[in-house]
Amino acid sequence: MSKSYRVAILGATGAVGTELLELLESRNFPVAELKLLASERSVGRSLRFQGEDLPVELVSDRTLENVDLVLASAGGSTSKTWAAVAVEKGAVVIDNSSAFRMNPEVPLVVPEVNPLAAANHKGIIANPNCTTILMSVAIWPLHQISPIKRIVVSTYQSASGAGAKAMAEVKTQASAILQGQQPIAEVLPYPLAFNLFPHNSPLNELGYCEEEMKMVNETRKIFGDQQIRITATCIRVPVLRAHSEAINLEFANPFSADTAREILSRSPGVKLIEDWENNHFPMPIEATGQDAVLVGRIRQDISHPCGLELWLSGDQIRKGAALNAVQIAELLVEKNLLKPAKAYVSSEK
Ligand code: A2P
Repeated sequence: MSKSYRVAILGATGAVGTELLELLESRNFPVAELKLLASERSVGRSLRFQGEDLPVELVSDRTLENVDLVLASAGGSTSKTWAAVAVEKGAVVIDNSSAFRMNPEVPLVVPEVNPLAAANHKGIIANPNCTTILMSVAIWPLHQISPIKRIVVSTYQSASGAGAKAMAEVKTQASAILQGQQPIAEVLPYPLAFNLFPHNSPLNELGYCEEEMKMVNETRKIFGDQQIRITATCIRVPVLRAHSEAINLEFANPFSADTAREILSRSPGVKLIEDWENNHFPMPIEATGQDAVLVGRIRQDISHPCGLELWLSGDQIRKGAALNAVQIAELLVEKNLLKPAKAYVSSEK
């Protein structure tokens, strides 16, 4: 990587934004200049990058000038407002929101799965939903050996998925409960400490929430396979950071647990954690801060000859969001695809 790029992080003060900052530094991304952008609430703050305190600026037409790459993680409505502006001004946007993910003109990329899709970008590349990224990394290598026909997934999603304020709220709630007080829920809809609840994104007419439909639709788009049948149940659990998933896979043909284990032990982005003697398998507390998706408890589904069960934990903020975005950026640099593109693609309203 010889060339350097002018990078902006939109949503720099958030849970994912601060992780993006850390990853750009720790992975030595070739940054010529870094802008930290957020709302007016954060103007006046500064964040440290490569030993320097950089000011947080308000995102605006002016602050998006002269930028080659925008890493955006400030929510869908902010992306809908500013992604077009950034592309118009010559930047490539890697967007962590759901605003553009299902737009047919926008590649939806997990580098371990569909890196070639990034080459088709017209200015915006979408980073998939966190639960979808974690599941994709774990099951794509198996899908290459024998096509997966059906996926039944249940998620155990941490507070970090709802942002830095939700993580802080869970701590406050836990401390209130331990002191015999009523927990207050302001960011999340219900108290999460010592509790859990189905994901609170809007429900469709079939009773599926948005988060569940993201897993269905985004996985199909990333895999380039509209035939896979997928059903998901997404649950928010009182874990601070790192999501877990129980995944049941039905293949076209019988698939042994040993073969799956052997394949996953050498798959990129996956780390097998299987200590059957001590009943030690992936846990969010051990996945926290790790780049790899931890996979374990791979076993035959006793209810179906072509079925396999597996369990995973992965850091939602890292591989589920910031790391995947930075890996896409690295891919663009490596393939010389980080070129200003003028053709703007509209978001679905
Ligand atoms: P701010 O801190 O100024 O509100 P999280 O997902 O952890 O809640 O973080 C969300 C990030 O998105 C924060 O950096 C937040 O900045 C930023 N953000 C939210 N709304 C806007 C907006 N309207 N314009 C710019 N940045 C925004």
